[in-house]
Amino acid sequence: MINFKSEIAKLVSSQVENLSQKEVEELIEIPPNFDMGDYAMPCFKLAKAFRKSPNIIAEELAGIMKENKFFEKIENAGPYVNFFINKEKLVESVLKEVFAKKEKFGSTNIGEDKNVIVEFSSPNIAKPFHIGHIRTTVIGHALYNIYKFLGFNAIAVNHLGDYGTQFGKLIVAYKEWGDRETIECNPIPELLKLYIKFHEEAEKNQDLDDQARNWFTKLENENEEAVELWKWIREVSLKEFNRVYNMLNIKFDSFAGESFYSDKMPRVLDMMEKKGILTKSQGAEIVDLEPYDMPPALIKKSDGSTLYITRDIAAAVYRKETYNFYKNIYVVGAQQNLHFQQWFKIIELLDYEWAQDCIHVPFGMVSLEEGTMSTRKGRVVFLEDVLNKAVEQTKKIIEERNPNLENKEKVAEQVGVGAVVFQELYHNRIKDYEFSWERTLSFQGETGPYVQYTHARANSVLDKAELNITDDIDYSLLVNDESVEVVRLLESLPDVVINAMEKNEPSYITRHITDIAQAFNKFYHDCPILVDDEELKKARLLLVYSVKNVIKTGLGLLGMEAPEKM
Ligand code: ARG
Repeated sequence: MINFKSEIAKLVSSQVENLSQKEVEELIEIPPNFDMGDYAMPCFKLAKAFRKSPNIIAEELAGIMKENKFFEKIENAGPYVNFFINKEKLVESVLKEVFAKKEKFGSTNIGEDKNVIVEFSSPNIAKPFHIGHIRTTVIGHALYNIYKFLGFNAIAVNHLGDYGTQFGKLIVAYKEWGDRETIECNPIPELLKLYIKFHEEAEKNQDLDDQARNWFTKLENENEEAVELWKWIREVSLKEFNRVYNMLNIKFDSFAGESFYSDKMPRVLDMMEKKGILTKSQGAEIVDLEPYDMPPALIKKSDGSTLYITRDIAAAVYRKETYNFYKNIYVVGAQQNLHFQQWFKIIELLDYEWAQDCIHVPFGMVSLEEGTMSTRKGRVVFLEDVLNKAVEQTKKIIEERNPNLENKEKVAEQVGVGAVVFQELYHNRIKDYEFSWERTLSFQGETGPYVQYTHARANSVLDKAELNITDDIDYSLLVNDESVEVVRLLESLPDVVINAMEKNEPSYITRHITDIAQAFNKFYHDCPILVDDEELKKARLLLVYSVKNVIKTGLGLLGMEAPEKM
């Protein structure tokens, strides 16, 4: 694909002494609208060296460069040199590349197979997999796909919350009020009931908390009954989580959760001890982080039990030793900012230079209309219910609008689940939002179904045409505004994907494929495709084919399917 920016850089640096290509590239901007050109070079920074005003420099530069084969017009507007690219060249270069690469368009090997761990989802066992987890789950999955697409060896890790004092509580509750069969029929809601009951009862009866602590200690000491119960709870929980992961098409490379690190803690504690960063405080062990303006990190309680943060430190060391990661990414809510800052600092204090490769990718909170979610109070929306309802809703719509569609059930799943995923990935991840059934189940406007439908529409035109698509076409037939607008958006997809990776922000891709869908629908509306003029038809079909491929790629990166028919 022609890189117009670097063509400008070559051109300008050949005219201006002492200005390297790279320097020019850094100056180049995209004008606010295409009437002002496709690219602009501001001349303010050159004024000093030239001892002339930016306007005069721009005028002189534009004067000597004139047009060339890549640019149909180069002219100055005040202090800017504006470049108007040769549209036919643009269209030809982009569509040929898309045609050659198809769904791989935009993928590269900049990752050089380096290991990138993407840790995401990581729910707590025996607790609901709720709407609050959807964010880490789909953002993480998208990032995993994006890193892979760019040539990294991405590793999907689910750091299950399968350890901690809450298991002591669950064991007590189960022994007091639980029934194995009832739980096996409907594990998480039943375990949740027990958990809630435990908290209600514990308010009246202090003794329960002591019992729970006891059971957790037994679990740590590998008491047979405790371990058996814990294993069973983990198993039934995972079964439920896997149902959701299957719906979302998510596969993890590792489920090494918190419990996996229980025997790896002594070594880490030992390292901290040797570094002299552990201090005793009221019988507990802490790391004092006051010099870094953070509260102390509690590493080991006075009863000897370790904590969430201790396990995170042990896990990071383990991951470095096991995967020698290039980046170690944690997709975890912004409520845990301090937690990550604290333990990243501890890794640094342990003199691990890879501390800087550990990256927390935070996201905003989801609340419910009735207030914040609370597991203890039973105020939760199950993720599985959200997905199922979205699929039901899609089925209804299909029955109304297209009852003869083949594979209705499958398409309803792809579109219903896709709608939820897309909505989740549409906004900048750091934004908080309030979950609303209404918004989730309304498919109006800029939604997943809209983009998927655009893909299916492109596909149906291609089907109807019954023509072999070729890139041997007359590109001068695609220089009208509607076509060029689409092509420009296709052209920038590779950069958008790289930006999404660098900022760990999948929403760039969501927005971009929405823009492509909108531009394509305008083209579709204004430029009839299946016309009698064979050459024109061939040319327009190549554009349709390119859009179909690029949208499919984008949806795939977000973790969504692209049904051929809708
Ligand atoms: N299980 C935790 C929770 O549900 C999230 C774990 C995040 N990952 C980590 N390495 N701390 O809040």
